[in-house]
Amino acid sequence: MAEILILYYSVGGSVRRMAELVAEGVERVPGAAARLRTVPKVAPVTQSAAPAVPPDGAPYCELRDLESCAALALGSPTRFGNMAAPLKHFLDGTSVQWLSGALAGKPACVFTSTGSMHGGQETTLLSMMLPLLHHGMLIVGLPYTQAELMSTRSGGTPYGPSHFAGAADDQPVADAERLLCIAQGKRLAETALKLAR
Ligand SMILES: Cc1cc2nc3c(=O)[nH]c(=O)nc-3n(C[C@H](O)[C@H](O)[C@H](O)COP(=O)(O)O)c2cc1C
Repeated sequence: MAEILILYYSVGGSVRRMAELVAEGVERVPGAAARLRTVPKVAPVTQSAAPAVPPDGAPYCELRDLESCAALALGSPTRFGNMAAPLKHFLDGTSVQWLSGALAGKPACVFTSTGSMHGGQETTLLSMMLPLLHHGMLIVGLPYTQAELMSTRSGGTPYGPSHFAGAADDQPVADAERLLCIAQGKRLAETALKLAR
């Protein structure tokens, strides 16, 4: 069974919902299984540490989850046009995996959610790819054969799924956005299985 790691950070639930949809796409591929993981908030050292186990949602990611996965889907809210600090903080702790090439040759994809329609979905997705490329990962986007890329009135990009959540972060994932999340998960899992042959 190829384990596809879906590593995300979410405060308001939008990226978490997207992660669940990417997982749905992964699970549609026979021989692939989704592993949902998150990261804790970052805090100044003077503040108390997060509990070892999150109160709800996915467990915290461990470095061995990265080492053992067949593929990685990375999801973050857009924060000033970039990925959120807790996810970047986690990635900044992966020097050992970078040195050993633990992720080299594995496929990866990225997804994000924003509060405004043109608030940096594409910059966030592209910048999320940078550390993955440094790790030698093979970036898997979304092809325009996926009809929703043309018909969407909100999120969805060839760089990866995206969601326009609105200023209050309360808009449900639109149909086109949902289908693109599922398609991305499926495509990532299929690619992982092809590469493993
Ligand atoms: C500090 C901060 C910075 C943000 N920066 C942006 C931004 O640059 N562009 C944007 O459209 N939304 C921005 N947002 C809104 C979030 O990206 C949006 O609410 C997202 O859907 C949150 O995802 P979540 O519900 O998974 O936490 C920002 C939110 C916060 C708290």
